[in-house]
Amino acid sequence: MKGLILSGGKGTRLRPLTYTSAKQLVPVANKPVLFYGIESLVSAGIREIGIVVGDTHAEIEAAVGDGSRFGAKVTYIPQDAPRGLAHAVSIAEPFLRGSRFVMYLGDNLLQRGINTLVEEYLRLGVDCEILLTRVPNPSSFGVAELDAGGRVVRLVEKPKEPRSDLALVGVYLFNDSVFDAVKAIQPSPRGELEITDAIQWLVDHGRSVHAHLVSGWWKDTGKADDMLEANRTVLDGLDNHAGTPTVDAASRVEGKVFFEGPPGSVVLVDSVVRGPVIIGEGSRIERSFVGPYTAIAAGCRLHRVEIENSIVWEGSTLENVRLRISDSLIGRGVVIRRDPERKPKAHRFLVGDNSEIGIGE
Ligand code: G1P
Repeated sequence: MKGLILSGGKGTRLRPLTYTSAKQLVPVANKPVLFYGIESLVSAGIREIGIVVGDTHAEIEAAVGDGSRFGAKVTYIPQDAPRGLAHAVSIAEPFLRGSRFVMYLGDNLLQRGINTLVEEYLRLGVDCEILLTRVPNPSSFGVAELDAGGRVVRLVEKPKEPRSDLALVGVYLFNDSVFDAVKAIQPSPRGELEITDAIQWLVDHGRSVHAHLVSGWWKDTGKADDMLEANRTVLDGLDNHAGTPTVDAASRVEGKVFFEGPPGSVVLVDSVVRGPVIIGEGSRIERSFVGPYTAIAAGCRLHRVEIENSIVWEGSTLENVRLRISDSLIGRGVVIRRDPERKPKAHRFLVGDNSEIGIGE
């Protein structure tokens, strides 16, 4: 089997972070979302992986390379514009033809991986397998309607009036029959070739489409709250402590805390870190509290701050902030600093487009 990871798109719902970063490289527990997908494929025994890339191809290629660090062989497949998931399949045909494959959306995270799905697909010998999960907001997804026997009857992309609460998860298994489907369908009203329409074509033309209900946790990390939830779930799932920080006698480490980098590279001074937390190489935490569900990337500096349930990217500085920072996504090289000496006494912002600042006092 081969793998096809879709890693194009603009990530508009994660701006401003996605002005400077591909949405698939946004970190969850200090690791780009995309890497979890690649690792899931490799763990299911899939080593030949095509990655469909768009405008952010240089960044994706720099992060993933030739795939050897994952034990995979990666082929990049450029897509000229986001023309839909089915379009991505059609341009990947030369890479995929003759091999069954898993298509994996690069911003999706499946807690339990895909090993059992791949086994099931091969065992059943069906043309296509889709994954479904119940969601409270089906209108934001592709939605499936099943008959009483659990067979797929209808699939609609982001319906205004959904006929079920079964959303399509961004992992699909196909054989060559999907290439007939993607050639036969027309662009949707939003101008894209929809994979839901291609799968509907398979259903309508008598191909076997098996629906698998996902029991474990799944997240499409398209929005800030989703990122924080994904971060919480991944941190919860890490099972051991790891790494050794440089800690002074006044500091305390409680619960599951993961220190990255060589021993001693994370420095704690007069601070409390209460897991689950991950802290990246070379970060320095001084007179601070780092609370549950926080991921702090490499090279950050925290001084006299309290933070919880947040993601901080590399090289950011948080200093002297009076109120606790919570539920926040903080990008690379950000500086948030309280300066009581400053005149006039005022908040001072240098903030990019589409940023969001919540002032709590
Ligand atoms: C895509 C698919 C949709 C699916 C979703 C899962 O939507 O078009 O059918 O439910 O992924 O993540 P998008 O996230 O591109 O809006």
